[in-house]
Amino acid sequence: MMLQRLGVTDVKLSDYELCIAVNLVDPVSMGITWDDIGGLKDVIDQIKETVIFPFRRRELFLHSKLLQPPKGMLLYGPPGCGKTMIAKATAKAAGCRFINLQISSLVDKWYGESQKRAEAVFSLAVKLQPAIIFVDEIDSFLRSRSSTDHEATAMIKTQFMSLWDGIITDPQCQIMIVGATNRPQDVDAAILRRMPCQFKIGKPAKEQRKHIMRIILEEEQVADIDLNKLGDLTDGFSGSDIKEGCRQAALYRVHEVLEAHRNLHGVDAFEIPTSNLRDMNMSDLEYGIHQVKDSKELMAGSLSYPLLD
Ligand SMILES: Nc1ncnc2c1ncn2[C@@H]1O[C@H](COP(=O)(O)OP(=O)(O)OP(=O)(O)O)[C@@H](O)[C@H]1O
Ligand SMILES: [Mg+2]
Repeated sequence: MMLQRLGVTDVKLSDYELCIAVNLVDPVSMGITWDDIGGLKDVIDQIKETVIFPFRRRELFLHSKLLQPPKGMLLYGPPGCGKTMIAKATAKAAGCRFINLQISSLVDKWYGESQKRAEAVFSLAVKLQPAIIFVDEIDSFLRSRSSTDHEATAMIKTQFMSLWDGIITDPQCQIMIVGATNRPQDVDAAILRRMPCQFKIGKPAKEQRKHIMRIILEEEQVADIDLNKLGDLTDGFSGSDIKEGCRQAALYRVHEVLEAHRNLHGVDAFEIPTSNLRDMNMSDLEYGIHQVKDSKELMAGSLSYPLLD
């Protein structure tokens, strides 16, 4: 089954490990490569040098305690700018399996249960190694809604750190924790200390936005695209905003065809030949970008209302 898809044949997993493997180990994500990521060349080069190279060529560094491959990396920055993509591409480039862990999936009202799940994450990683445990929203170790919740997460945090220390002190262990957060200021100092490699994944500037746009539109049918103008129009956009704009642009053509067809043949006529879809053009993209701008403004507006009281 799924373990075979991962190329794991000779390990036996406990029930907990199996449960975690099924939910969290993500073979599909192994498809993301550096080429899919736009505008982050500098960060990617640094990661290649400081994380991937030592990880893949650990035999070169065996003689030096200072040059051990890092066991932790933190990616921080605003939402939708490529943290998760970078984590996945890192796993691929390092030849690692990717365990996608959300802290909330460990939390259970029974502490004993949470404890077993956390242990299973690490013991599974040991069996699957080399592996990356990706902890998204690593700041959420500290955030929780109720105080009982808070106690539970605090205990999980302590346990998680001691398991983590186990892999840090074992020189043979090929497991790395990659954390991601939008709120680096909320990440516990003890956690930060365990992640010596920290990379800021910021909002893309114009040239970076153009690069992202180029990657997203690469496999689409487009005509007469002015990338430079699109770079200007997407000022303030994240990578995922850009993607959403392109999606809206692509959809607009479908809407247009359906609309024309409906006017001729009535509301329920869906039998249009797909070859009717024309190439995406600048005005589609401008439309898509405006849609995203409007919804961003709406969101910003709704967030600032409480401040008006
Ligand atoms: N630099 C980029 N190059 C290409 N596509 C990008 C880039 N940044 C974001 N995207 C697009 O936006 C989507 C979301 O990106 P990703 O999940 O990596 O963001 P994130 O930083 O992890 O955000 P969050 O903090 O919300 O988890 C990607 O799947 C991709 O389609
Ligand atoms: Mg993410």
